[in-house]
Amino acid sequence: MKLRFVRSALALLLAATAFQVSAQDFPNRAITMVMPYAAGGPGDTITRLFAGAMQKHLGQQIVVDNTAGASGSIGTAKVARAKADGYTLLMIHVSHATNLAMYKSLPYHPVDDFEPIGRATSGPMVIVARNEFPAKNLNEFVAYVKANGPKVSLAHAGVGSASHLCGLMMMNALGIKLNEIPYKGTGPALTDLMGGQVDILCDQTSGTVPSVKGGKIKAYASAGKVRLPQLPEVPAITDAGVEGFDINISFGLYAPKGTPKPVLDQLNSALQKSVADPEVRQRLEVMGISAVSLDQARPEALRQHLKNEIDTLGSLLVKAGVKAN
Ligand code: MLT
Repeated sequence: MKLRFVRSALALLLAATAFQVSAQDFPNRAITMVMPYAAGGPGDTITRLFAGAMQKHLGQQIVVDNTAGASGSIGTAKVARAKADGYTLLMIHVSHATNLAMYKSLPYHPVDDFEPIGRATSGPMVIVARNEFPAKNLNEFVAYVKANGPKVSLAHAGVGSASHLCGLMMMNALGIKLNEIPYKGTGPALTDLMGGQVDILCDQTSGTVPSVKGGKIKAYASAGKVRLPQLPEVPAITDAGVEGFDINISFGLYAPKGTPKPVLDQLNSALQKSVADPEVRQRLEVMGISAVSLDQARPEALRQHLKNEIDTLGSLLVKAGVKAN
C-alpha cells in the first residue's frame, strides 16, 4: 500500500515537473494558429498578419490552419480539444459568442473551454455587391432590395458569422427577407460576388476594401453611422435613413483551457508587442481595421468583450428566430 502511494506521488511529481519544464522552454517548436474560416477572407488576412508579427517575438514559426465550416465551430472545437500547452491557438471574432446561441449541441463552451489571451483588432463592415447589380447608388439599392427581397441573393459565412449578423441587421432594418447563400468564409463568397454568381454581401473591410478599390466589386454603404476613411465616397447606411444598424467586428486570441500561466503570459506579451507594432497598425489601417490598444490586448478585456457579445448578439439572433441546428 505504502509503495503504491509513493509510486503515484512520484509519478505526479514527475508529471508536474515535466509540465513546468515544458512551460519554461516554451516555445521550442512551431505554433499552430487556427482561423476557423476559409483562406482568403477578412479573418484569414488578420490572422496571417498577427501570426507573422507574433512569431518574431516568440522566436518560433506560427502556422495558420484554416479549419473552416459550421460558422467557425469546427475549427474552434479543434482548439478546445487540443493539448493545453500553448502550441495550438484560436483567432476568432463574434462567432465565438453567437455559436453558443446558434448550436444546441456545440462540442465546447466558448468561456469554460478556453483561456483568453487578448483582443487583437476591431473594425467596421461594408455592404458590397457584384458590379452589375442594378442600383446606381444607396437610395436605389434600398429601393431595389425592398422591392425584390427574396430574389436578391445575400452571401454570408454561416449563421452567427459577422457577415450573417450584418445581413440580419440589414434585413431587420429594411423589413425584408433576402435569399441567404452560406459559405465557409467570406473569402469564397467574395470570389462568387466578383464572378456575379451572388448579388450582395456585407463583409469586414479587411476583406472588401482592396476589391472595391480595385473595381472588382462595388460598395453601397458602410454598415454603420459613419463613412469609412478608406472609402470616403461611400455613404453610411444611416445616410439613407436606415436606422438600428451599426456593427463592429473584433478578433481575439485564445488558448485551450488549462494552458499554463507562464505560457499564456509569453503569448500575451507577443500579442501586446504586435498590436503596438507600427507596421502592423499601418497595414491594418489601410484596410479600415484598428489594432486595439494595449489595455484591450489583455485577457480580462477579451473575457469581458466575449461576455458582452454573448449577452447582446446571442439574444439578437434568438429574437430573430435564427438557429443553426
Ligand atoms: C471570414 O473571415 O470569412 C469572415 O470573418 C467570416 C464572417 O463573415 O464572419
